[in-house]
Amino acid sequence: MLIAGNWKLNCNIKEAEDLSSSILNNLNHNSYKSEIAIFPPTIYIETVSNIIKNSNISLGAQDCSINISGAYTGDVSAPMLNDFGCKYSIVGHSERRNGKYESNKDVYLKAKNVMEYNMIPIICVGENAKDRDEGNALNIIKNQLDKSIPKINKEFIIAYEPIWAIGSGKIPTLDSINEMFNMIRQWLLNSGMNNNIKILYGGSVNKGNAKELFSCKHLGGLLIGGVSLNPNEFSEICIMAS
Ligand code: PGA
Repeated sequence: MLIAGNWKLNCNIKEAEDLSSSILNNLNHNSYKSEIAIFPPTIYIETVSNIIKNSNISLGAQDCSINISGAYTGDVSAPMLNDFGCKYSIVGHSERRNGKYESNKDVYLKAKNVMEYNMIPIICVGENAKDRDEGNALNIIKNQLDKSIPKINKEFIIAYEPIWAIGSGKIPTLDSINEMFNMIRQWLLNSGMNNNIKILYGGSVNKGNAKELFSCKHLGGLLIGGVSLNPNEFSEICIMAS
C-alpha cells in the first residue's frame, strides 16, 4: 500500500521541518509495511528532501506544469521536480480541477509530463455531491479516467477522492467505495492496463475510519490531507496499513 500525505498550502519552513522530522522519527521507532510518501508545498521540497533523504519515506509534489520550459511565469515543471528527488506528483486534484479550472486535458498533459520524466503521477478523480445524489458518480469518474489518463506504458496511480468528502468529515459507505473501485479496476482491464495499478482513496481519512477503509477489496492506499499535518495521527495510520 501507499500512504500519501498531501500537505496542501500549509506550513512555514520551520513547521515543514518539524512535521517531516516528527513523521520520520515516529516511523523510525515502529515497524510498518507500506510505502509512505509526503507532498509538501513545492517551495519546501528541497528542505523536506534533506530531512528524509536517508529514510524510506518518498517525496512528491502536489502539482506540476503542463509545460516543460518557456514563458510560463510561476510554473514548476516535471523535470524540475525530478531534479529535486520527487518520486511522485499529484495531478488533477479537485482543488485544481475546480479552483483553478483545470480540464481533463490539462490533467492528461501533466500526467504525461510526470511519466516522461520518470516519476509516477497520482491522477485524482472525484465526483461532486450533485453528481453523487443524481446517481451519476460512476459515469463522471469513468469520463475523467477516459480523458485524464495517458495510454502510455508507464506507471501511474489513481486516487479516487469524492469532492464532497474532502475536508468535510464525511466519507462514502464502504459499499459505494467498493462499487467505484470495481468500476475503476474494470476500466483498467478494458483499457489493457497493468492490473497492478494502485487505486487510492482520499477524502476525510482519519485514524478512526482508516481501519474500515483498509478492508476495501481493491484499496491500494490512502491520500490524506488534513490529518497528514498531524504527525502522530498520520504515523499511526501509516503503521496500521498493511
Ligand atoms: P482531506 O483531504 O483528507 O483533508 O479530506 C484529502 C485530499 O484533498 O487529498
